[in-house]
Amino acid sequence: KQGLQVAIDGPASAGKSTVAKIVAQRFHYIYCDTGAMYRAITWKVLQAGVALDDEAAVKDLLDQITIRFEPGTPVQKVFVDDTEVTLAIRQPDVTNAVSQISAQSAVRAELTERQRQIADAGGIVMDGRDVGSTVLPKAEVKIFLVASVEERAQRRLKDNAAKGINTPLETLKYEIEERDRKDSTRKISPLTQAADAIRLDTTSMSIQEVADRIAEIIQEKE
Ligand code: C5P
Repeated sequence: KQGLQVAIDGPASAGKSTVAKIVAQRFHYIYCDTGAMYRAITWKVLQAGVALDDEAAVKDLLDQITIRFEPGTPVQKVFVDDTEVTLAIRQPDVTNAVSQISAQSAVRAELTERQRQIADAGGIVMDGRDVGSTVLPKAEVKIFLVASVEERAQRRLKDNAAKGINTPLETLKYEIEERDRKDSTRKISPLTQAADAIRLDTTSMSIQEVADRIAEIIQEKE
């Protein structure tokens, strides 16, 4: 097997994807953003005008679509079939609907299966909510990233400004807490720290410090 499986989980806006990308680059591992896959199916559901709670119709849509990643700077490109959705899946309509789609058993079963296939050969950094607990229970490295809500809302505010999204800080805090509440209380593989995951509180750490710490942990296991 070439390289390890590295799982990075945690609540919304904890910096998972930013550090996961840096770490993947450093070790020449593949990076897989599982949240983008849940966002992609949510985008498709909204686009198709399917009701968020119509589980059968949501499953049908998911069975019909391909979700593809392509390398890109500064962000990986995401495609649903032949449509690029890189920016669309980060918009507030998708962000605020995604937890209702990701809670559905058929959606989780299908995407978990696709994620396991992507991770099969090893040499992968995968970030999400249930990667260490459910998708890759045997991952050699499991990280659980947390940060205060205030800090996460501040980071999201900055990210959003660059994308031209102008949601106020208080609304962001509310949305982050709501999404965490929904993701943590759903029945199937809720957001939770795996027993063997290493918890890193990034509230007062820089992105580089977090990436360096995770790189050290990987080096110890490689
Ligand atoms: O990481 P990101 O914020 O892009 O994830 C979007 C949403 O996708 C989460 O709020 C959660 O509902 C869902 N998700 C999940 N399991 C994962 C990754 C994301 O349920 N492994």
